[in-house]
Amino acid sequence: MQREASMRQLRAGMVGMGMIFEETYRPFFEHLHAAGLHDPRFGEVSVTLAAAATRTGTRADQFRASAQDRIGPFESFTGDAAVANMLARQRLDFVCVATPDDRHFAAAQQVLAAGVHLLVEKPSVLSLPELDALCELASRQGVLAKVVYHKLLDPDHKKLRTFVADNVLSHVNHGYCSLLEPKSISGGQFSEWIEGRNPGTYVAVHYIKLIDFTFGGRLKTVTATGQRGLVGTPGGTTWDSVQLRLIYEFASGRDAAFDIHTSWVTPDNFPGYVEQEVQFRFDNGVWNAHSRKRGVECTVEEHTPGDLKITLNNHYNARFLEPWGERTRRGYGIETLEQFAREAAFVEFGGPPGEREARLAAMNQLAYNDVRSDRQTVAAVAALEAILNRHAGGEPDCVVRVNDSRGGLVLYRPGKAEPEVLYGPQV
Ligand SMILES: NC(=O)c1ccc[n+]([C@@H]2O[C@H](COP(=O)([O-])OP(=O)(O)OC[C@H]3O[C@@H](n4cnc5c(N)ncnc54)[C@H](O)[C@@H]3O)[C@@H](O)[C@H]2O)c1
Repeated sequence: MQREASMRQLRAGMVGMGMIFEETYRPFFEHLHAAGLHDPRFGEVSVTLAAAATRTGTRADQFRASAQDRIGPFESFTGDAAVANMLARQRLDFVCVATPDDRHFAAAQQVLAAGVHLLVEKPSVLSLPELDALCELASRQGVLAKVVYHKLLDPDHKKLRTFVADNVLSHVNHGYCSLLEPKSISGGQFSEWIEGRNPGTYVAVHYIKLIDFTFGGRLKTVTATGQRGLVGTPGGTTWDSVQLRLIYEFASGRDAAFDIHTSWVTPDNFPGYVEQEVQFRFDNGVWNAHSRKRGVECTVEEHTPGDLKITLNNHYNARFLEPWGERTRRGYGIETLEQFAREAAFVEFGGPPGEREARLAAMNQLAYNDVRSDRQTVAAVAALEAILNRHAGGEPDCVVRVNDSRGGLVLYRPGKAEPEVLYGPQV
């Protein structure tokens, strides 16, 4: 899909316009509508939201009405064939997929099959065969396939990785991460699709990726358990909270273990709102980060913790009055989307058409967001899903081993001699 350099425009599609669209994609598209993209590598490129595909179209209509002149005209597609119709009717350069996590694959596959660059929310997909299919399609079609893991762009996590890369902190031994979402998420925001789902896949994946990308070990073992009874029934398939343990091994022969605790049933008036904490213990140091100790706590009568949060995360995605008078909305949640748009613009406009393949290959090498580098993260998610399914089916405490003698992802059940091979090839 080589483009004329003179056109210098990227036309975008959006699949799903829920909470994350409002928080990050909306400011991303509004900002690019006003300012475009500039980069010495490709000059000036305009980026336009040309189409949206959602289930009912209500959110697209609301967005169009409230954004007014902050966005250009875009076509709204609805219903079961929304994505297919959008891809058939509109000429698009990239499509962002922000549907619930078990609906990423269907949309992502269609986007890539149409020869369009893809940006998909985390977790990219829920199984390794799905990931293989996306990687194969992206390579065959010569387009980008990227995943949003915006926590990798959090300045605190960038500093952690810098210390690790520079060996200021040496060999991580073990760690603990926790992310607690309020009840309003499971009971309101996500109630339409939450049945049979768990908060681990949805949010632990941020930390799985952080650990995988920052420390670079080889995933060896996955175990998990969880609690039920608030969002669904005590014996059902919908989980309130999940505890996941990952064991990695490193080239040195040494191991590290990480526990990731997640929940979406924390009280709505809990001051942390989305409470986040990490601790990593190294041979020579300890890294502690806590969202409520990041620096700001603010209380405003009748506003906190409702429409204003007590613990403000001003790094993720916040509205500011800049010192020079401009109103902006910025943060790493938006920065990661813009970085993807720059990668797509670089592929299409960053040099002569004959060198597009080399530019594409260079962008595919970026492990922080490329689907090809998402294998261990998807493996951990797939293992978690399988362990929780077994647990809900009356077989708790299964263990998944990665790349053992029987296969890439192998589930062992207590008291059963024969394991189940979840994925045969190497992870
Ligand atoms: N990066 C982050 O920190 C972050 C935060 C929140 C959510 N997310 C991710 O974003 C995705 C969406 O989450 P959300 O919070 O916006 O959820 P949401 O429930 O608020 O919105 C989902 C949207 O997808 C639409 N949708 C559902 N099925 C669809 C389909 N088959 N085709 C087209 N549209 C469909 C719904 O109409 C809705 O507009 C999830 O994968 C989630 O993991 C990421």
